[in-house]
Amino acid sequence: MVLEKAKIMSEKRFTLTEESTGKSIDLPIRSGTHGPDMIEVGSLYKEHGVFTYDPGYGTTGSCSSAICFIDGEKGVLLFRGYPIEQLAEQCSFIEITFLLLYGELPTKTELDEFEADIRHHTMMPESLGHFFNGFHHNAHPMAMLMGVVGSLSAFYHDRMDIKNPHDRDQFARRMIAKIPTIAAAAYKHSVDQPIVPPNNDLNYCENFLNMLFAVPAERYEISPVASKALDLLFILHADHEQNASTSTVRLSGSAGTNPYAAIAAGISTLWGPAHGGANEAVLNMLEEIGSADRCDEFIAKAKDKNDPFRLMGFGHRVYKNFDPRATIIRKACHEVLEELGVDDPLLELAMKLEEAALKDEYFVNKKLYPNVDFYSGIIYKALGFPTNMFTVLFAIARTVGWVAHWAEGQADPEARIGRPRQNYIGEAKRDVTDIAKR
Ligand code: CMC
Repeated sequence: MVLEKAKIMSEKRFTLTEESTGKSIDLPIRSGTHGPDMIEVGSLYKEHGVFTYDPGYGTTGSCSSAICFIDGEKGVLLFRGYPIEQLAEQCSFIEITFLLLYGELPTKTELDEFEADIRHHTMMPESLGHFFNGFHHNAHPMAMLMGVVGSLSAFYHDRMDIKNPHDRDQFARRMIAKIPTIAAAAYKHSVDQPIVPPNNDLNYCENFLNMLFAVPAERYEISPVASKALDLLFILHADHEQNASTSTVRLSGSAGTNPYAAIAAGISTLWGPAHGGANEAVLNMLEEIGSADRCDEFIAKAKDKNDPFRLMGFGHRVYKNFDPRATIIRKACHEVLEELGVDDPLLELAMKLEEAALKDEYFVNKKLYPNVDFYSGIIYKALGFPTNMFTVLFAIARTVGWVAHWAEGQADPEARIGRPRQNYIGEAKRDVTDIAKR
C-alpha cells in the first residue's frame, strides 16, 4: 500500500533543451513522501537517443522504497517514518527487524510470535558447519561469512519460490536467524575453538555473545551491559536505504538469483573500507596514530592529494551536516566504557582527532563529519570483540535491511533487471588483422 503511494506522479514537469537542435524534452517528475523530486529519465534513450551519466549514482534513484529515509542536509534518519533517535531509545533490535520487514511496529503478541520464530530458525544445517574446515585458521571472518552465507543457497534452492510471499518471508526469517550463528562459527574457526551451538533460551544478542565467547570447558556469564550495547549498535546499523551493499543485494536480486546468494553479494560489498569495512579500519588507524600529539600529522596526510590515506570514519556520501547514528554512538561509547569500567586511551584519542578535524578548514569546507563507524569500534573493543569481527557485526545488523530491500524489490511491480549503461571510450570499430601481420 505504501509503495503505491510512493509512486504517485507529481503535477510538475522538467524540461531539457538540446542546444544544437533547440528541441525540448519534457520529462515527468515523481514526488515521494519526503526528499527531493525525481526526474523520470527512463524514456530518454527510447525517445531521444541519449543516456544519462552519473558515476557513483550521486543523483540517481534506482527504485521507489518505503523502508528508510535519510535527509543528509539535516542529519535525519527514519525507519518506516520513525526517527532513529526514538527507535534507539525505546525499541529492541528484534522490534526494529519486524518494523523494517513488515512496515509497522509489532504489538506484544506479534513480537512474541516473531521472536519465537526467529529463535526457532537459529541452527545451521549440520553439513554447512563442515564448510568452515575448508578455510585456513587465519581466514578473515568476513571472507568466511560471505562464503558460508552464499553456500546456504545450495541448501535452500529448489524448494523456494521467490515469487511467493510466504517463501520470501520464510527466507527473511531464516536468514536473520542464522546469520549470527554463521558469524560466531566463523570467529570460532579463526581462534581454533569448537563451534558453540545456539541456545534458544537466550535472546538475539545474548545468543550471539554466547556463541562467540562461550567455551565448552567453562561457564560463560553474559553481560547485560554487553548485550544491551550490542542491541543498540545493531539497531543503528540495521538499514540505510540504497547504500552500496543494499543496492548490490537489490541488483543481484533483480536477476532473480537465489536470495542467500544475493545476501552474500551484499556482504562482499560491505567488506570494503569505504563502506562497512571502515569500522575495522578506524581502529587500525587509531592504533597507528597512537597518541594525540600525532593527530595533526594524520590530518595533514588525509588532506594531502598525493597521499591515498583518508581519515577513516569521516565523511559520508549523504550526510553533509552530521550522521545521527554517530551522535548516538558517541554518547553510548562513553556510557558503555564507564559501565564496563574500561579506560581506553583510544577513546580519548578519537575525541582529540574528531576535535582537530572539525576545526580544520579542509574538513569544514568539504562537510566531512564523523560517521557511524568512527566510534563503534571503540565500543566493540570494550565488549571484547576482536578487530577483524567489527565488519561482521555490521553485516549481522545490516542483513535485516538487505532482506527487507530484497523482498520489497521482488514485490515491486515496476522492478526490472538492473542494467546500467556506459559511456564507451574504447577503440572505434576496427577489423581484425591476421596474426602474422600484427
Ligand atoms: N578523509 C579525507 N578526505 C576525504 C574523506 C576522508 N575521510 N572523505 C572524503 N574526503 C574528500 C575527498 O578526497 C574529496 O575531495 P575532493 O573533492 O577534493 O576530491 C571530497 O572529500 C569528497 O569525497 P568523495 O570521495 O568524492 O565522497 P564520496 O561521497 O564519494 O565518499 C566516503 C564517501 C564515505 C566513501 C568517503 O567520505 C570516505 O572514503 N570516508 C572514509 C571511509 C569511511 O569512513 N567510510 C564509512 C562510510 S559510513 C558507513 C557505511 O557506509 O558503511
